[in-house]
Amino acid sequence: MKKKTVILGIETSCDETAAAIIEENHGTIPNILSNVVSSQIDVHKEFGGVVPELAARSHIEKIDLIVKKAINDSGKKISEIDAIAVTAGPGLIVCLSVGLNFAKSLALSLGKPFIAVNHLEGHALSPKLTTNLKYPYLLLLISGGHTQFLSVKNLGKYKRLGTTIDDALGEAFDKTAKMIGIEFPGGPFIEKFAEKGNSKRFNLPKPILKKGGCNMSFAGLKTAVLKISKTIKNEQDKNDLAASFQNTIQEILYVKTKKAFKEFLGKNKKKNNTFVVAGGVAANKSIKKTLINLSYEEGFKPIFPPLEFCGDNAAMIAVAGLEKYKVKKFDTLNHPAKPRWPLDEKAIFLKGAGVKL
Ligand code: KG4
Ligand code: ZN
Repeated sequence: MKKKTVILGIETSCDETAAAIIEENHGTIPNILSNVVSSQIDVHKEFGGVVPELAARSHIEKIDLIVKKAINDSGKKISEIDAIAVTAGPGLIVCLSVGLNFAKSLALSLGKPFIAVNHLEGHALSPKLTTNLKYPYLLLLISGGHTQFLSVKNLGKYKRLGTTIDDALGEAFDKTAKMIGIEFPGGPFIEKFAEKGNSKRFNLPKPILKKGGCNMSFAGLKTAVLKISKTIKNEQDKNDLAASFQNTIQEILYVKTKKAFKEFLGKNKKKNNTFVVAGGVAANKSIKKTLINLSYEEGFKPIFPPLEFCGDNAAMIAVAGLEKYKVKKFDTLNHPAKPRWPLDEKAIFLKGAGVKL
């Protein structure tokens, strides 16, 4: 029987220390043998956001235990690992360096290939952990640091169709939560508060809704939320503002996704189109419902990774590593940590004041 490749994935780009082992399953989805994620919510809670130095220290304290646990849980011996895949960017450089150095040392001592993975490619390929995902597909990546529509043509071949020109969507959720007085991490809590609120109570702006193709902007919402948050008197007001914010985001995503579908299809009507939504914000049930309905209306098959693979995890890094392993895309041990590492390197930088759409 043909040997099944075993990959160790390591992720430390932000505030999750994670390690996972997956095993290739020829022709079908891989076996996830272990998936360990240690979140640092308690470390950063009192600061209302991630403090890079504290995050890095916490990664240093835990990385060897987390990797050991992933190996033990998998039932494999360390000698059975065929390659080590690790997030090399984008992310906080002090955090990336911890996982990267650990992975390099392990690869060197075991004499196994080393694979540097783009964290965003991990999110992009995360559905491969549970479904037989085929190229090409349209990707909406919505995380704490990125918000983009990408046409995924093949492994490593991305064309950006649209991006946020200011805040990332997860960042907008987190900042809104902070202004309303909802605890860290904001995204999941906004969703909970919104369930009890009236989404029609507050009218919030939808910047560049009718222009800029499928580019997006969320910074204007911050200013509007800040103004309203000063008038908040009770829990119901909080719920209503959370619900109004989430509803506004859904309306923006609905319109922009419709535009992205058109751009993805171009002039040729294709069949069997797939729409993948990945990243932490893909865990939001209301957003998921809106985008699933829209996909069916427009003839796209929607794919959302299961909840455990929406947020940061190492199984998605391992699966990206496995795809690279199959085509022997290995890296040298002097691969740097890359705090900025766009999937579409050719796309122009579209952020900040003065952006023309
Ligand atoms: O992909 P991820 O875990 O980390 C990054 O790569 O950034 O995404 C984290 C982001 C955070 O901003 C978090 O608030 C947001 O995803 N998030 C959510 C939900 N769960 C996580 N946003 C809205 N609704 C949720 N249920
Ligand atoms: Zn992420």
